[in-house]
Amino acid sequence: MSRGIIAPEFEYQDGTLAVERVSLLELAEEYGTPLYVYSRGHLVRRYTELADAFREADPLICFSVKVNTNRALISTLAEQGAAADVVSGGELTRALQAGIPARRIVFAGVGKTAAEIDLALKEGILFFTVESEGELELVSRRARALGLRARIAPRVNPDVDPQTHRFISTGKLENKFGMDVERVRRLGAQMEQYPAVDLVGLHMHIGSQITTPDPYVLALQRMLPLAAELRGRLSSLEYLDVGGGMGIRYSPTDDELSAARLARAILPLVRESGLRLVIEPGRYIAGNCGLLLTRVLYVKENGARTFVIVDAGMTDLIRPPLYGAYHHILPVREVGEIIIGDVVGPVCETPDFFAAQRSLPAVRPGDLLAVMSAGAYGFVMSSNYNSRCRPAEVMVQGSSHRLVRRRESIADLTRLEL
Ligand code: LLP
Repeated sequence: MSRGIIAPEFEYQDGTLAVERVSLLELAEEYGTPLYVYSRGHLVRRYTELADAFREADPLICFSVKVNTNRALISTLAEQGAAADVVSGGELTRALQAGIPARRIVFAGVGKTAAEIDLALKEGILFFTVESEGELELVSRRARALGLRARIAPRVNPDVDPQTHRFISTGKLENKFGMDVERVRRLGAQMEQYPAVDLVGLHMHIGSQITTPDPYVLALQRMLPLAAELRGRLSSLEYLDVGGGMGIRYSPTDDELSAARLARAILPLVRESGLRLVIEPGRYIAGNCGLLLTRVLYVKENGARTFVIVDAGMTDLIRPPLYGAYHHILPVREVGEIIIGDVVGPVCETPDFFAAQRSLPAVRPGDLLAVMSAGAYGFVMSSNYNSRCRPAEVMVQGSSHRLVRRRESIADLTRLEL
């Protein structure tokens, strides 16, 4: 197997994999496994890289908190100057609690409820990315009922193919997201029907794990005439929100869409629009800041296949079974011998695997493995299926580390039952 390293914050030190300057052996000892481990240094470095690449546009960088809602991460990014993109009342509350002011929060999602709209209106968020005429009606009614003004950015579905996994493609008309260009144009012409609503922006988010700038450029080219038309009509129009979606490296040999490359491709178009840029990166900032640390329970053979059974499962990290996603797996202690095997969890489901037929270190029970690139869509998509307790989360900074969410206990599992 390739021992390749994906990010410099995760390297072998004296034969043992470390996060910044903390050995994963030490973390497993202290906090147990399975364990999510995050590098604060990586998070800050990636945010800074992105901010530098787009600096000339003075963008609002809204961290998409759905990728990782741990308060330690959100507040670290808030300290660096990040705003937030949220998709529920729960995420809105978490972003506020982590120190992001409401006026720097945008709220997306095709199914916002009246209660969520009320909460966001009372807090005074920057804008709702309205995804249907029905939602606009509701936002307008709730704003009037509360005696408040609502700011919206219709989400345009530009009908482009982001060339990514079909489950994370959101910018084609066959997907449920946004409204086609014509519909948004009509809506823009009818804004006087909504006196409590200001149309302040246009939004798009075409998909996730996108590895080329081309679909962004294509989508923006479809948005620009609409932006120009609406700008002529509505003095309130101020923001062009291009969403998130930038892909990262899941294997040491993968390409990634660097922030600099995306900036070079889209900034001329943004300039042409005359609007202020908003971006909603999630995975790009947090994806490679985290790993899932797991311990080998058993190694067994079935026919010709070797199964490495670990104590983490699809309940802790569901990306491999859900999207067929590749996650690089590294042994915490370097092992010379290589086998071909499957890394599987304890859950009673056949797709409960982290790797299938892969070159792996010949680990033994008790050894530790690191499932890499688990900082985005990892813990947040975990579940209690099979009545498994969710893992703890730890944040490393230099040579120090701290628990940022404790491990769930069996008592936690039954706490809400009546
Ligand atoms: N903005 C909006 C409106 C979104 O829906 C999303 C992600 C983002 C921003 C952030 O996208 P990112 O920069 O992280 O690609 N669970 C899947 C990914 C789902 C993406 C959902 N929306 C996965 O594990 O690959």
